[in-house]
Formats: sequence, C-alpha cells, structure tokens
Amino acid sequence: MPQMIKNDTLPAEQSVYAARAAALAVRKYGENPKACVVTFGCQQNVSDSERMKGMLVQSGYTLTDDISEAHFILFNTCAVREHAEDRVYGNIGTTKALKHANPEIIVAVCGCMAQRQSVADRIKRSYPYVDMVFGTQVQHRLPEFIYKRLSGGGRIFELSLDNGEIPENVPIKRDGTFKGWLPVMYGCDNFCTYCIVPYVRGRERSREPERIIEEAREMIASGFKDITLLGQNVNSYGKGEPHGVDFAELLKRINALDGDFRIRFMTSHPKDCTKRLIDTIRDCEKVSSHLHLPFQSGSDRILKRMNRRYTRESYLELINYAKDNIPDLSLTSDIIVGFPGETYEDFCETLSLVKEVEFSSLFTFIYSPREGTPAAAMEDPITREEKGRWFSELLRAQEDIAKKNITKHIGKTYRVLCDGFSQREGFMTGHNSGTTEIEFRGGAEMLGKFVNVCVKEYDGALYGTVTE
Ligand code: 5AD
Ligand code: SF4
Repeated sequence: MPQMIKNDTLPAEQSVYAARAAALAVRKYGENPKACVVTFGCQQNVSDSERMKGMLVQSGYTLTDDISEAHFILFNTCAVREHAEDRVYGNIGTTKALKHANPEIIVAVCGCMAQRQSVADRIKRSYPYVDMVFGTQVQHRLPEFIYKRLSGGGRIFELSLDNGEIPENVPIKRDGTFKGWLPVMYGCDNFCTYCIVPYVRGRERSREPERIIEEAREMIASGFKDITLLGQNVNSYGKGEPHGVDFAELLKRINALDGDFRIRFMTSHPKDCTKRLIDTIRDCEKVSSHLHLPFQSGSDRILKRMNRRYTRESYLELINYAKDNIPDLSLTSDIIVGFPGETYEDFCETLSLVKEVEFSSLFTFIYSPREGTPAAAMEDPITREEKGRWFSELLRAQEDIAKKNITKHIGKTYRVLCDGFSQREGFMTGHNSGTTEIEFRGGAEMLGKFVNVCVKEYDGALYGTVTE
C-alpha cells in the first residue's frame, strides 16, 4: 500500500538530512549545539514536540530548557483560542534580542498556529528574524529544514496540508520516564463551528494498529506505567481503514500486552462514544476508569449551532450508562461559555447539566472567535464582561460540587501511581485509576511505582497511608 512506502521511506531520507545537519551545526556552533523547544497547547502538541526533540537530537543538538543558550529555538504553537496566539507572538518577540546578540541562531515556529496562512504571512512580514515556519503535517521534515537553513538557504515557509502521510519510525525523545503520550490518530473531520482544529490539523488519519502496539510495547519495556492514547476524536479511530480495528478493539489489544501499566485516552466525542466502548473500559483491567467526554454546552439549541450532532438527552444517557457500569469512574469534560447567540437561559442549561452529572473536574473556556470558522461569522451580542460573570458562576458551581464529593474517597483504598512530590515535606503525590490525586508519606524512590493507598482524610488535599 502507498501508506507503507511513505511510512518507511520518509524518515530514512530525513536521517540523511539529520546527519548532514549535525555536521554543519558543529561547524557553525562548535562542539555542543543546543536546541530549545517551547510547547504551547494540548497533549497532541506535547507529543509532537517529543518527536521533534527526537529529530533534533538526531540532528546533533543537545536539548536545553534555557532559551538564551539555544542555537535552535522552536516554538510549537496552539491556535485553539486567541489568548494562546497572543502568548506565542509575545514569545517569538523575545527572540529578537537573542538573534541580535547571535545572528547565527535559528528561530522556528511550527504547530497549529503556524499552519494558518494569515499567521505565516504576518511572521514573514513582521518577524524577519524568524527563520522557518512549518505546518502540522510536515513536522517530520524538521532535519531537512535545519539542513537547508544551515547550508545557507533562505527562510523556509512550508505549510502544505496534503492529509496523506503519517510518518513512522520517527525518533522520539520523551519528556517523562513513566507517564507518556501515544498518538493513535491525527486530524479531525467534525467541524464543530467554533473550532479551528480541522483547518489546521487536516482530515482524520489513523495509525496502523501494529505501529501503535509496537510503540506501546516499547514504552512498557522502557518502564512507562501510564500511557495516554491521543487523538482529537479517538472514537473515530480506524474509520474507513481496511484493517477493521476500531478504538474499542485497539484498547483490548493494548490491554492484552504483558506488563504492569495503565492506559488512558483522550479525547472522546459524545456522538461517536458507544456503550461498547464503555463496556470495554469496564472489562479491560489496564484501562483507567476515566472518561473525558466534552459536552461543550447543555443547551440543545446551542449544540445544534455548534454542529455537535448529539443532544443533551443522548449525552446524559451515555454518562449514566458509564456511571452505572464503571466503578469509581472519574468523569471530566470541556465546556465553552458564551458561544455566539447563547443566552443566559442556554447557559443555565449548561449549569444544570454540570450539577446533574457532578464531574470530577472541568476544563472551561470562554468562547474565542477563530477567523475562518462558521461561528466567527455568527452574531455575538453578549459582552465579554457578561460572559465572564457566567463563567464565574460555572466555576463556583463546580467548586461546590468538587468540595462536596471529595470526601467520598475517605476510607477507600486505591491503586495509585506515585507521580510527583507534594508541597508537604516528606510526602509524595499519586493518582488513582481515575483522576483523583492523593498524597502519602514517601520519597523519590517511589516515583513511577504503583502503591496501594488508603485515603484517611481531606485537608486541602486527600491524604492517605500506603498499605503495602
Ligand atoms: N473558543 C473557546 N474554546 C474552544 N475550544 C475549542 N475551540 C474553542 C474556541 N474557539 C475548546 C473546546 C475543546 C477544547 C480543547 O477547547 O472546549 O473541547
Ligand atoms: Fe474541534 Fe470538534 Fe474536532 Fe474537537 S471534535 S477538535 S472541538 S472540531
């Protein structure tokens, strides 16, 4: 199949560029050229950055978090809300002085924002010290871009969105050692009317199941305990592919791999999330008891205007099925407040859904118009201040729910993955199979290990004691 040829040949070609780039970089910068990758936005971007970091290492760079010492600076950007874009422009601006001090350094901008023609044009015009801008579907060509620039080529603007290939065999430099990301599909076909993602990430494409399983195996073998499968809409995994593996089947296959690890996934779309998937979560012991199911609005009228293609009622039916079937389930969601044309009555329906479901936590956003999306052309008479008041009301309601529900964990014993250091001296933090964070006495030697913790009390955080 053509896909296979693309998968296997492209990175090989890029390895050649990487080797050449490495030789040029040493000549230009001395023995230890350094690269800094600054990532904005979602987990998909974090995952993409891990792959680009792998390519940078392959191209002879050592990674650094200190932008001021870097010879190659890469901004991996997010376009989902205006605020994210403003932050990126601010960050790019700071490299002007660095470039002034050392004109040899290379500044690059990639990711969702870079994919937008208007952004690329603005950078071309107003940020002459940016050396390269490249889009979401050509990231695997990073070694080639570096080589071309290092060998004296002009500024690079590469935005092609051909919706075809998923490059495999790309080197990966993961940020974590026991929690990691595993992309299963790219792109989105849903065209929710507020969302820029389908325009900047292109059409849905799924990775071959064998490739995903191979990567999962590698992660497990190198000590990963918590693997999150990523896609804009994981429920459409495999759609239209000849292999016939859907997302539930993929979960089952990863669940069947040997090893002590946990599988998470995001994001699910309510219109495609099936009871079969919920049964799979229940039946697969390594799949965590967490469902992130964004509902965006509780009003059917607004859901229609958002082109979400489900109703409040069908959403609630799914949620209730999940609650009835998955013990200790953590439910989380995304909500947009102040979509164009939303009234206070519509907002109250969102509020009542939040109160009815009692989510573990919420990701809440005030609507941000994105140029080129249908919603950006809709009338939007409610002021930002008014939307801000609704937003605060929603946050208060969720805080009350969280406060009320947190104590239900007391007395329960959970299997917890120890994943960080608490603020409290001598204590560690960990998460259960859902999203509940628990603190317990321990030290660095526990990091990345599973322990059983009995929750004893709540005092700003849940505290427990390790039972084995
Ligand atoms: N304005 C505000 N929030 C948005 N999201 C997506 N597009 C917009 C927008 N234009 C939110 C949705 C989505 C999450 C990732 O970001 O809630 O689920
Ligand atoms: Fe955006 Fe909707 Fe696709 Fe999610 S499903 S990425 S909100 S268009």
